[in-house]
Amino acid sequence: MALSERNAILHLLTLALLTIAVTNRALGIRIPNQISDPSREPSDQPLKIAVFALGGFWRSEAAFGCANGVVRTTVGYAGGSKSNPEYRSLGDHAESVQVEYDPGVINFRQLLEVFWSSHDSRQVFGQGPDVGNQYRSIIFTNGTEEARLAAVSKEKEQLRSRSSIVTTQIQQLVAFYPAEPEHQKFELKRRPFLLQLMGNLPEEELQRSSLAAKLNGYAADLCPPKIQNQIDAKINQIVKKGWPVLRGV
Ligand SMILES: *[C@@H]1O[C@H](CO)[C@@H](O)[C@H](O)[C@H]1NC(C)=O
Repeated sequence: MALSERNAILHLLTLALLTIAVTNRALGIRIPNQISDPSREPSDQPLKIAVFALGGFWRSEAAFGCANGVVRTTVGYAGGSKSNPEYRSLGDHAESVQVEYDPGVINFRQLLEVFWSSHDSRQVFGQGPDVGNQYRSIIFTNGTEEARLAAVSKEKEQLRSRSSIVTTQIQQLVAFYPAEPEHQKFELKRRPFLLQLMGNLPEEELQRSSLAAKLNGYAADLCPPKIQNQIDAKINQIVKKGWPVLRGV
């Protein structure tokens, strides 16, 4: 496909998603994407980085990808001591997601809300069918302010129900090891049609793309229902317009 064509489609999709973010302001349910203010425009502040472990990292990445202000997501390994961990030998690390975010749009406290609402922090030794130490729940912090915010949010979460213990650990971030390419944007990669819609970006571009992070959340059905529906509608519209790239799909 010609580069200009691909850019046109990317542009259209980005516009569609921006429109969705802005028109969705009034929705008030407790879902990750509504935690940050969707009307906030990107700021010129330097991006910040946060790392969380909340079960299998395919789903963790998708859980954060749809939040307004999240610019980039990467899955990897953190929280252990093994150097150069790999998927089949990650040692004492936890499957984790690194979130690069615009602090002018979403802050660490709001990311913590996404964290708590996206997994069961009371489950011991895993999430759902994923059982094992690599699926433990961890908030990684960098600096005393983040450590304080993490501790406060954990106390609040514990107060929601006293009958079971919140197992989440709070650890200082030492190192984050990005996982192998095949684990990045995994949910999106299960939907070749969406990849094609984005113009089959090379792996490196896909990993850095904000739109890919958002559509990865959409592919996993982890955007708020209203946004899921709006993205569906936009994609149908694009398909109906018969973009050259979509012929023969
Ligand atoms: C912690 O934050 C500082 C300043 O924002 C940054 O330079 C440093 O790389 C961060 N440390 C880690 C382990 O990410």
